[in-house]
Amino acid sequence: MTLLAGAAAFGYASVIERNWFALRELEVPVLSEGVAPLRILHISDVHLTPGRHRLMSWLRSLDALEPDLVVNTGDSIAHPHAVTPFLESLGPLLDRPGVFVYGSNDLYSPVVKNPARYLWRTSKQEHARDIPDLPWLELGAAMEAAGWLDANNKRGRIKAGQHDIEIAGVHDSHISRDRYDLIAGPADPAADLRLGVLHSPEPAVLDLFADDGFDLLLAGHTHGGQVCLPVNRALVTNCGIDTERASGLHRHPATGDDSRPWLHVSAGLGTSPYAPMRFCCRPEATLLTLVPGIS
Ligand SMILES: [Fe+2]
Repeated sequence: MTLLAGAAAFGYASVIERNWFALRELEVPVLSEGVAPLRILHISDVHLTPGRHRLMSWLRSLDALEPDLVVNTGDSIAHPHAVTPFLESLGPLLDRPGVFVYGSNDLYSPVVKNPARYLWRTSKQEHARDIPDLPWLELGAAMEAAGWLDANNKRGRIKAGQHDIEIAGVHDSHISRDRYDLIAGPADPAADLRLGVLHSPEPAVLDLFADDGFDLLLAGHTHGGQVCLPVNRALVTNCGIDTERASGLHRHPATGDDSRPWLHVSAGLGTSPYAPMRFCCRPEATLLTLVPGIS
């Protein structure tokens, strides 16, 4: 009986919930009074392999939301031949203003592992391989060629709708490729929005963005816990962030006054092909509508 229940739960997690994509819509009171609303589509952790047609077509449908800006916080691919399918999945979204950072899984192909290992340790040691074996540079070059901003250890400026957005981002701290020193410095108070992007919501890195005056920080990596207790109660985050902020909209640091930046952590859209399950943590993309909230 126990075996039967376990098989049913695995079937649900790997076949049904893993393909039960959700659009989360959130309002973020982060703009100054008088600034028009700004719609940001946040996607993350697609972990695309060429056969995932449902995921690809759902991703492609998101252009109908007509976002002003698309932010991709990494782990886009999980296969050497996934770059073209990923770009085709983005489709018309690539014609919109966009920004991206890499996650470790854009560089390193997935390996067979015990899916329960995150309960006692993170995956940080799994990238001990020194030489990336996935076409991450080809992926980044294609997004950049479409006009998206490469924010890996870089700062930049994007015009999205009527908004002047200052953006800073780091490469993935999970594999020690983050170089905040290259982007450090106070954010521009004259911009309509000061946006920080990073793959892994590591508190020490988030602190640096907060100290420099960024208003909104977008990250992924956690998969929202991926296999959770009801309802959306993460057991692990695979990094230093607390389980209460494994996904969704919060402040960083977790406690303090209203000057703290907002932090949105995406639960992401995919999984490693070797841990193909989600439980009480549907795959998601998020439409963030930024509205005035700063007087
Ligand atoms: Fe991921």
